[in-house]
Amino acid sequence: MTDPNVLPWLATPQPARHPQPTVKALDLTHLIFQRPDLNEAARFLTDFGLTVARQEADTLYLRATDATSYCYRVHLAEQARFIGFGLAVHSLRELEKLARIPGASPVEKSERPGGGYCVRLTDPSGFIVEAVCEQAPGKRREHRAPLSWNLAQEQPRINATQRPPIAPPEVLKLGHIVIEVADYQATCAWYTKHFGFIPSDVQVLPDGTPIVTFMRLDLGDVPAAHHTLAIAQGFMATYSHSAYEVVDADAVGMGQRVLRERGWKHSWGIGRHILGSQIFDYWQDPWGDKHEHYCDGDIFTAAQPTGIHLVSPEAMAQWGQRMPKRFTKPKMSLANLYALLLNLRRSPDLSIRKLVTLMRLFG
Ligand SMILES: [Fe+2]
Repeated sequence: MTDPNVLPWLATPQPARHPQPTVKALDLTHLIFQRPDLNEAARFLTDFGLTVARQEADTLYLRATDATSYCYRVHLAEQARFIGFGLAVHSLRELEKLARIPGASPVEKSERPGGGYCVRLTDPSGFIVEAVCEQAPGKRREHRAPLSWNLAQEQPRINATQRPPIAPPEVLKLGHIVIEVADYQATCAWYTKHFGFIPSDVQVLPDGTPIVTFMRLDLGDVPAAHHTLAIAQGFMATYSHSAYEVVDADAVGMGQRVLRERGWKHSWGIGRHILGSQIFDYWQDPWGDKHEHYCDGDIFTAAQPTGIHLVSPEAMAQWGQRMPKRFTKPKMSLANLYALLLNLRRSPDLSIRKLVTLMRLFG
């Protein structure tokens, strides 16, 4: 037997796939935010590469170029806040199964763009999950084709130049959402149990404690993005970032130029991740929330086993700018300090020792 002192994570329970999940989610459909200024939200998100699909007095819907009605919903509210996200499921029958989970709403007809049916759930950390089905697809929109590269081995571009448009890079689709939670194991287990998420890779502390779990959809033999949902250990439930796929690396680079020229705040990039392999660039919206452009991510079928890795700032990228210290720094306020103290007493996954280890690693 392997000595657990050498590989302590073998002795620590890690988030794992569930043998018989309630349903298997098909896709991440949309994110839900509250913002005090819809115009300011639209200004950032359109500079980022989304387009406004519908604007009502108190709700803003934005979309990507893929065949969905919307992927980003903003409700007008005094306080800026991330509410939750939507997951598509196969059928009404599956929605009925989800409606039996404690705290779930009954199956309801949706009045939002795309229509269909919806069940509203609350995960153990308080995030809302809107399970949806039978949404009408939106009309797919044109986007520029990927640039063809003259490589040493092959040069397809003769007497022609590279001149991608100097404009916000078109967002092709909503890719993933990353949340931080205090109740780590319970929240990870809820998503694997009820939506069939498969942990692709888990990052652990030297003592084996899981700190970040990257989860993909279980689409069987159909490859799914390395992560559609990622859950990180924090001291309270909060939004970490969301990510949007663009057509190629030049779109990531052009995004950086355009967002910089328009005065938005940069977070981290450009670089290439290790877990998931994406070429990435992170930008902050007007409320300091991170939004990521990416391309060239890994895709795994259900056959790929879960990987376990040591967590560190160096383990976040294989090249590019080192992860800045402020990237994982929590926003400190009186309310957050109160949440920290409360969760330290309450959550089985939180201890001062763990927080100090995390702060040493990333601080
Ligand atoms: Fe990401």
